Amino acid sequence: MPLHFKPYLNKPSSYKGGKSLSEVSSDKKIYKLSSNENQFGSSPRAIAAMESSLQKLSLYPDRTDHRLCQALEQFYGGTFTAEQFITTNSGVANIEMIMSGFLEEGTECIICNPAFGAYDDFAKKFGASVIDIPLVGEDLHLDVEAILSAINDHTRLIFVTSPNNPTGTYIPKSQVDALIDGVPDHVVVVYDEVYFQFADAEDYIRGIQYVVEGKHVIGVNSFSKAYGLAALRVGYSYSTPEISKYLRQLQRPFMINAVSMDAAIGALQDQEFIHSTVKNIHQERDYLYRQYDRLGIKYWKTQANFILVKPTMHIAEFEETLFCAGIMIRDAGPFGAPGCARITIGTREANELLVKELEHMYPNK
Ligand SMILES: Cc1ncc(COP(=O)(O)O)c(C=O)c1O
Repeated sequence: MPLHFKPYLNKPSSYKGGKSLSEVSSDKKIYKLSSNENQFGSSPRAIAAMESSLQKLSLYPDRTDHRLCQALEQFYGGTFTAEQFITTNSGVANIEMIMSGFLEEGTECIICNPAFGAYDDFAKKFGASVIDIPLVGEDLHLDVEAILSAINDHTRLIFVTSPNNPTGTYIPKSQVDALIDGVPDHVVVVYDEVYFQFADAEDYIRGIQYVVEGKHVIGVNSFSKAYGLAALRVGYSYSTPEISKYLRQLQRPFMINAVSMDAAIGALQDQEFIHSTVKNIHQERDYLYRQYDRLGIKYWKTQANFILVKPTMHIAEFEETLFCAGIMIRDAGPFGAPGCARITIGTREANELLVKELEHMYPNK
């Protein structure tokens, strides 16, 4: 008898994540603008909290995530109880946990490409069918009507992302309202908001209010981006008491390691670091807009810490030329944006180097 491998697991992964610095070799200083990490470092309070937990590495961490959930309850000003938060080893692990709670063979999951590659890849690994309702128009907006008409009895999850990766675009409140009002009760909207700190559009909205109203919404968050703690792998979500209680059953004892938990709790107290990071990102974003306009490079306005651009040359050549100059960027093709590059907003030093290289590539401007 052959082994009973799940047929849908025996397919190559489409989501691989960006390369780390240790995977590339160059004799130049490399500016890694390929994974939307915080280019301005990590929360100092998180680092201080971590240093003290390094003295206790021989001990198991907390059995549960209660301490972090209490810190989150406080951070959200009591809008949610500690039990409404579900913490995981990264945002991506949170997404996987949500899928493992709701998806299986015979179910459907709606995503809207261009989107974060993990949605498609993980959903298929749970045996679900992925229904893609692509973003539409030059401004890449959500096709709410098409999403609502794609829902059927098999639909379990809808993934929407605001600000979105890799486009940097966001979903205005009126569209989120229309989506959530139109979704039937058996479907959960997973509202991925891991870049929310960078959003400054007036009609940007998080998932909080919908959860408060008792809608079937899960807000997904991460400590990897604005807090600058990507290496520690901590993420969390919040949802209604019913959904959170259900998902909590998927948590393992001792799941969040002590160093990461202490760092995340420290980070939540570090609004100063968030303010300075966001200020830097907005300043550099405006600088890059001016340069891209000057050079005639097509780009999409962003609400995140990266900008999607569409170079005129082939994407592989664009990526290679910038890499030779010491800049790593990300081909957004695998995310559903062929011919486009996603470039993390860097420090002024990195951005100036990027612009200098682009000036060589676009010599007539
Ligand atoms: C939209 C989106 N969601 C979730 C994540 C997961 O972040 P992490 O696993 O680092 O917490 C990312 C990371 O790039 C992302 O872009």
